[in-house]
Amino acid sequence: MPLDIDVIRKDTPAFNSPTNPIKPVNHLLACGSALMPQTVLDTVVNHLNLEAQIGGYEAHKQRATPLDFVYHQVAQLIGANRNEIALLENATTAWCHAFYALPLKAGDRILTCQAEYAANYVAFLQRAKRDGVEIIVIPSDETGRLDLEALENLIDDRVALIAITWIPTNGGLVNPAKEVGKIANEAGIPYLLDACQAVGQMPVNVTELGCDFLSATGRKFLRGPRGTGFLYIKQSFIETLEPIIIDHFAAPWTDTNEYKLRTDARRFENWENAYALRAGLGAAVAYANDLGMENIQTAAWGLADYLRQQLSAIKGVHLQDNGHPNATNSSHQERSHQQQCAIVSFSIDDQDPHQTVAKLHAQNIIIGTSSPDSTLLDAQSRNLPTILRAAPHYYNTRQEIDLMLEAITATID
Ligand SMILES: Cc1ncc(COP(=O)(O)O)c(C=O)c1O
Repeated sequence: MPLDIDVIRKDTPAFNSPTNPIKPVNHLLACGSALMPQTVLDTVVNHLNLEAQIGGYEAHKQRATPLDFVYHQVAQLIGANRNEIALLENATTAWCHAFYALPLKAGDRILTCQAEYAANYVAFLQRAKRDGVEIIVIPSDETGRLDLEALENLIDDRVALIAITWIPTNGGLVNPAKEVGKIANEAGIPYLLDACQAVGQMPVNVTELGCDFLSATGRKFLRGPRGTGFLYIKQSFIETLEPIIIDHFAAPWTDTNEYKLRTDARRFENWENAYALRAGLGAAVAYANDLGMENIQTAAWGLADYLRQQLSAIKGVHLQDNGHPNATNSSHQERSHQQQCAIVSFSIDDQDPHQTVAKLHAQNIIIGTSSPDSTLLDAQSRNLPTILRAAPHYYNTRQEIDLMLEAITATID
């Protein structure tokens, strides 16, 4: 069933809160930090209120069951088992927990992609410096998509990890994560997938993906609060990995000289947590699950396709997206396999992107920029400067996109 945009917008305080002093925002940057639904805001605030009224520990105790249920909700969102989920404060921490726990040694090879996110790549560089691992970048095809044949040709005994970004931070591309999973699984190589920009905008199923680790954030397409994220670790890996840092929650102190690591993915968590935010993450996931990820994808990607089409018709504007353009009448199944996603990147002749963003902000239209250093390899290979980035979500409308397009056109005239 298609989404009911009126209900969705009523559910979103940014569009209709009587207490919002600013006129409704035209927010087209879900890839940065999306607009929360009312239920997420209420859940966070209610938990904080409870903490203020009865004390933090007592509030945790009183809300123990729904807080525990968040693991189930996140697991359901990505087709995992609740024991395979660790709730963490962002996607980077989640990713790092998996990456740094892997026992890579000198001479081991990490295969990654050209669109890899900066935070991940600097961690590769650190382990190259510290542990002597080798970083090999899998070549891309002409659309910037990871080349599967090139990946197959790189597989050998030296490869100890395949770690790629599914959807890069700055536009269009959806890497063939499932096909990479097949190759990784056949070769028996651990597979770490950065799904930070994918979770919340499209269906995600860890079994179909064949990934061993998956990291994601709450605040982007999932519409959760800032400061939330999660890590999925495949059951068979959990007990083989010693977290890089532990405390007495991850590993209870069982005797004077002994600790015993937990047997679930929560061995990557700590004792103290932001429970109000966790509760908000649960509400965001429940909201997305209720709407249905396929519906969300169809709506968000449809708006992004429209935005791309219209932008490409404006003189002086250049789309900078990687990835295969969508066939306009493609089915859901086809969309999830080739596609360009809900992140749209572009540049405008002779304009400083920061100033363009500021001009639009002054009209309450929110888009952003993406600098070369967030995906340096891709930026270097395409000689890209800082570019503009917009990401409509299912709660946006074509009218909002038209307003943005008018504002962009006005910056050129
Ligand atoms: C592809 C990708 N991976 C990872 C991250 C890091 O996410 P977080 O800021 O939640 O740590 C981002 C953030 O923009 C991202 O775009």
